[in-house]
Amino acid sequence: MTGGEAVAVAHPNIALAKYWGKRAGEGNYPAVPSLSVTLDGLSTTTRVRFDGALAADGLVLDGKPADGEPLARVVALLDRVRARAHRSDRAEVVSTNDFPTASGLASSASGFAALALAASRAAGLDLDAPAISDLARRSSASAARSVFGGFVELEVGVDAARALAPADHVDVRVLVCVTSERPKSTGSTAGMRTTAERSPYFAAWLAEAPRLFASARAALLARDVEALGAATEASALAMHASAIAAGVVYFRPATLAALEEVRALRAAGTGAWATMDAGPHVKVLVRGADAAAARDRLAAVPGVLRILEARPGEGARVEEAPRPTS
Ligand code: PMV
Repeated sequence: MTGGEAVAVAHPNIALAKYWGKRAGEGNYPAVPSLSVTLDGLSTTTRVRFDGALAADGLVLDGKPADGEPLARVVALLDRVRARAHRSDRAEVVSTNDFPTASGLASSASGFAALALAASRAAGLDLDAPAISDLARRSSASAARSVFGGFVELEVGVDAARALAPADHVDVRVLVCVTSERPKSTGSTAGMRTTAERSPYFAAWLAEAPRLFASARAALLARDVEALGAATEASALAMHASAIAAGVVYFRPATLAALEEVRALRAAGTGAWATMDAGPHVKVLVRGADAAAARDRLAAVPGVLRILEARPGEGARVEEAPRPTS
């Protein structure tokens, strides 16, 4: 079989209980469990077209042809799809984000979730969501979570993420405080590797992360936003403390200024909790009713360039081709 085309859309997710560190061995399995919320509003749209006439796989990312590592990671996923579909034709991949790529806004999560879904469909495979999640996880473990909507968990040693609660389970928003439009300096894989190799606190992180995950999970299921927020901020700070001790510093002055404002909001009685990933942005978890006021305060923080406000969103989906009208 040759040819075949599909388009998929996926949203980024923000980990409330962080994944940081990989299990030894092959397969890109996380060393700790994680829990995330998939975001609406922000999205990646990816078109995959297999074509027997192509000499090599190609990638166009946000309108520009890509090569090097981004292309190599796409080819690795396409190779897994081809092996599964027993085919060898090459593909053209066109992917567009409506938010800054590689800046710590989890574009790899939505990117590989959309790619896994579009590539498997284009190749003629009809995989279920756990199989798509497994395919995405091997490229970027956080991408396994973006296959599902709402609140999602990825346990240790499993192949796929799992939906834990639907998007409307709790009325929360994530305020993404963008502090830079530049790509991040250290990607998550390199940051995790350096942390594992050099941080005197990596073992402490590995011991603490499952406890923070369990607290976040229980709080979510109990709809206890206060406890969920506390576990969320604690997980991010513990992850970054382990990374910082290895010299892996993602914080910029604006990151600390936004963190300070989140603490000031809490001191003034507004529930707001911060989380940061492999980049300088601060994502703030708030109740729906507090979103507008918290947003105004955070927008005034020096170095916060803009704020994207997201609700819990849906999982990855295939964009159906328009049907002919006659
Ligand atoms: O899946 P990766 O390689 O993009 O790593 C994600 C790491 C964090 O975003 C920092 C945490 C997480 O659980 O998403």
